[in-house]
Amino acid sequence: MTRVEIMVLMVLFEGLFSAGALSDNSTIPALVNIGVLYSFNTSVGKMVKTAVEAAVEDVNSDPSILPQTKLKLSMQEDTKYRGFLSIAEALQLMATQTVAIIGPQTSTTAHVISHIANELQVPLLSFTATDPTLSSLQFPFFIRTAFSDVYEMTAIADLVNYFQWREVIAVYGDDDHGRNGMGALGDKLAERRCKISFKAPMTPEATREEITDVLVQVALAESRVIVLHTSTAWGPKVLSVAKSLGMMENGYVWITTTFLSTWLDIHSPLSPDATNDMQGVIALRMYVPDSKLKRWFISRWTNITTSGKNGNGTLGLSTYGIFAYDTVFALAHALDAFFKRGNQITFSHDPKLSQIRGDNMHLDAVKIFNEGNLLRKHIYEVNMTGVSGLFKYDSDGNLVNPAYEIINVIGTGTRRIGYWSNYTGLSIVPPETLYSKPPNRSSASQNLLPVFWPGETTQKPRGWVFPNNGRMLKIGVPKRVSYRDFVSQVQGTDMFKGFCIDVFLSAVNLLPYAVPYKFVPYGDGDSNPSNTELVRLITADVFDAAVGDITITTERTKMVDFTQPYIESGLVVVASVKKTDSNAWAFFKPFTPMMWAVTAIFFLLVGAVVWILEHRLNDDFRGTPKQQMVTILWFSFSTMFFAHRENTVSSLGRFVLLIWLFVVLIINSSYTASLTSILTVQQLSSPVKGIDSLINSKEPIGYLQGSFTRTYLIEEIGIDESRLVPLKTPEETATALKNGPQKGGVAAYVDERAYIELFLSSRCDFSIVGQEFTRNGWGFAFPRDSPLAVDLSTAILELAENGDLQRIHDKWLLSSACLSQGAKLEVDRLKLRSFWGLYLVCGLACVIALLIYLIQTMRQYSKHGPEELESSGNGSGSSRLRTFLSFVDEKEEIVKSRVKRKKIEGMSYRSTREVGSSITSNKGFSQASSNRIDSATEI
Ligand SMILES: *[C@@H]1O[C@H](CO)[C@@H](O)[C@H](O)[C@H]1NC(C)=O
Ligand SMILES: *[C@@H]1O[C@H](CO)[C@@H](O)[C@H](O)[C@H]1NC(C)=O
Ligand SMILES: *[C@@H]1O[C@H](CO)[C@@H](O)[C@H](O)[C@H]1NC(C)=O
Ligand SMILES: *[C@@H]1O[C@H](CO)[C@@H](O)[C@H](O)[C@H]1NC(C)=O
Ligand SMILES: *[C@@H]1O[C@H](CO)[C@@H](O)[C@H](O)[C@H]1NC(C)=O
Ligand SMILES: *[C@@H]1O[C@H](CO)[C@@H](O)[C@H](O)[C@H]1NC(C)=O
Repeated sequence: MTRVEIMVLMVLFEGLFSAGALSDNSTIPALVNIGVLYSFNTSVGKMVKTAVEAAVEDVNSDPSILPQTKLKLSMQEDTKYRGFLSIAEALQLMATQTVAIIGPQTSTTAHVISHIANELQVPLLSFTATDPTLSSLQFPFFIRTAFSDVYEMTAIADLVNYFQWREVIAVYGDDDHGRNGMGALGDKLAERRCKISFKAPMTPEATREEITDVLVQVALAESRVIVLHTSTAWGPKVLSVAKSLGMMENGYVWITTTFLSTWLDIHSPLSPDATNDMQGVIALRMYVPDSKLKRWFISRWTNITTSGKNGNGTLGLSTYGIFAYDTVFALAHALDAFFKRGNQITFSHDPKLSQIRGDNMHLDAVKIFNEGNLLRKHIYEVNMTGVSGLFKYDSDGNLVNPAYEIINVIGTGTRRIGYWSNYTGLSIVPPETLYSKPPNRSSASQNLLPVFWPGETTQKPRGWVFPNNGRMLKIGVPKRVSYRDFVSQVQGTDMFKGFCIDVFLSAVNLLPYAVPYKFVPYGDGDSNPSNTELVRLITADVFDAAVGDITITTERTKMVDFTQPYIESGLVVVASVKKTDSNAWAFFKPFTPMMWAVTAIFFLLVGAVVWILEHRLNDDFRGTPKQQMVTILWFSFSTMFFAHRENTVSSLGRFVLLIWLFVVLIINSSYTASLTSILTVQQLSSPVKGIDSLINSKEPIGYLQGSFTRTYLIEEIGIDESRLVPLKTPEETATALKNGPQKGGVAAYVDERAYIELFLSSRCDFSIVGQEFTRNGWGFAFPRDSPLAVDLSTAILELAENGDLQRIHDKWLLSSACLSQGAKLEVDRLKLRSFWGLYLVCGLACVIALLIYLIQTMRQYSKHGPEELESSGNGSGSSRLRTFLSFVDEKEEIVKSRVKRKKIEGMSYRSTREVGSSITSNKGFSQASSNRIDSATEI
């Protein structure tokens, strides 16, 4: 607005200006002017006027509030309620020295006149301008006496999230109210990982034709969830047009903001066909808790509208009427507090306005309310219980406890399906019952009653459809030249067949809705197309999806959404393998050399220990040193077959032998088992042992041309590009592998397991070597956030669970016997590590036995030895040892004869016929007879 315009205005209203009727009784005036700026010609305006007048009447007759002061209303019709005229009207009101203005009706006007209010310091109190951007920071004198649309949009976002829709279409009037409301909705949806997929603005006060044009666009979009945010004046017209366009049918979801509930409330009682066009629509209504005061007010409202001068019972009460009534009371309370603190109401000239004063301009009339800021503060400090419940502001200048009712239009009326409150979100019990409990916004606690949706159904609409423009989904399918079992084009047609196609068709059949699609081949038919490029074409809108052997890789998931993998397929290395024939020295293979060495050492060791423990008592271990040596060797190695003939007599010797035989048993059976497997299972050998050995070599590596393997090998594994050889077909691969690096082929071939299984099914000369070194899967690709990807994922999981996936796999990709042969590549030699425990036990047994033997011998020596030592009269070390040894020998003789005697006695008791004669024949035993007796005792 230009300066000239303002001046013109001033002149225009010159005649109207008059001084305020402020009489001074100490400081409290008898009369206070309050302006009301509304479009009284609209239904909302009529209701507001009635409510405000009733409130002023009640304040003036209430002695407890503003006892010495009467409120006086200055009504100003806001005819066009937007733009230039509104400014004029606001100025006109302010010239009557109003201390506050109730209004304006619309957010658009509020944006404009808030600047004037700021300048003249006159608080604006509005309950219908709910635009969230009318912030108290930019417009300190704009005070919202209802809930900001931020909360309404949060409620809608919660609703969308509750019904698990992801995208909505916003239809709104393209003014401050609509635009800023939808901005808030977008933010709130984004917090819940949802979004506005399409914004359909309409000119404010749109005609039926304009509405039709916009709604036709909406019908073509994918989403079927429509949020309608307009004004009460023309909002219902949109629903009526929607109905005529068939957009109130099954599948559609309409969520409207408070305008619809206001319209329904004001027009109540509704005529029977008033709701015909809006069946199943969900609407929000500002929530006013039930209370005695509210019931009283409703009864009073009925009195006013039926019997009053301006009523014949056709003006319904909406929540805006209640907030209008409370707004006047809040203002009265604030003024009361304002006067009680001894403040006065004074007006003064605006120095800035004075500067532009022209001679014939009577701008003196427009004055600044000096205490406006103080009054504003008092309004924000109001703490009262009004008809709308607790009326109080929080520190951000918002009314406390914002809450909405969620209503559903059914039949000739509406039904409440639940509540939304900023405190706990969606609930079916009134929010005030929840304020005493801790807030709980978990998804389990969110609930609503069943909804009656458009199209007379109670089944929740899916919320989206395939864009209804007669277009089919264009699904890109790679035109493979190799491994055509996975996907291939049927010659001469547009049809495709193969494993991937079958999986896709089965999954699509499981969807609860029809998917119109057509396959579009991708690739030149001479070489395998790059699947990464195919996926990229989805982002470029060339394809709507891609089906085929598409591996889910990081690079690709950055571009598109994949379904769940329907086949596992990691990378493996394939190499040409030779069968190793079991050669003449195969019997060495079960043990490692170390194992062989330790085993041999233990055989000798045990032989030696047993000899030490036995040779004094046991004739078997006696004889010339040469004989004894042979005995030790023979004895120890014959234990290998449990075929030792030498008897052990000492308990220590038996102890050691027992443990040793156990060790031998274990080693024997392990050896046998290992040898068996070596000789019977076919062994394959390859110089390539896996991906690790490939990295370190310099030999060429083959990969499937067009596959992501190339990038992976270069970027992730770090293999030099020059070593990679693209191979097109399985035949080419087989030849390259067979030729090997020497003849211009490759040393190994890296590819996905799924292809390799097919490759190996008929080629037994090759085998997978090493481990699978990545874990990938194949999925179908869809554009980001595609709802189809989610539904197909579910379908694929269902296929996997009911076994269909396996059946499709078996149909196309039955693997043959060749594959399993490659399983065993390396001889698993038995290592010492597996046996050291046994050897430890055995070794310990030997050491303990030897120690015990030594101690025993020492004790015997200390009993008998010393006298004999003394008699020899020689103290030198070596002679001592000699004496000790000869003593030991003598003792041995004694012990031995004692033992033999015992044996003989034992035998004689048994009085076996054969042995009997030899016992009686001689007292001194010959070597031969003793042997015979020994063998007899063994029997
Ligand atoms: C103000 O006026 C009222 C009556 O209008 C009178 O009762 C009251 O005493 C006056 N107060 C003062 C402070 O004069
Ligand atoms: C109120 O609106 C009607 C039509 O909507 C119009 O005919 C009438 O003149 C308006 N009244 C005022 C006072 O603007
Ligand atoms: C409404 O009118 C009736 C009869 O005129 C009266 O008894 C009742 O008190 C009125 N109610 C209110 C709230 O004014
Ligand atoms: C009620 O009065 C309004 C005007 O105040 C009029 O437009 C409307 O037709 C009347 N309704 C009935 C049912 O008489
Ligand atoms: C608001 O009023 C209620 C009673 O009406 C009182 O309990 C409460 O403490 C008041 N709050 C403030 C902040 O003054
Ligand atoms: C609404 O809830 C949010 C978060 O729960 C809170 O920060 C905010 O203060 C609440 N607003 C009101 C007006 O209660």
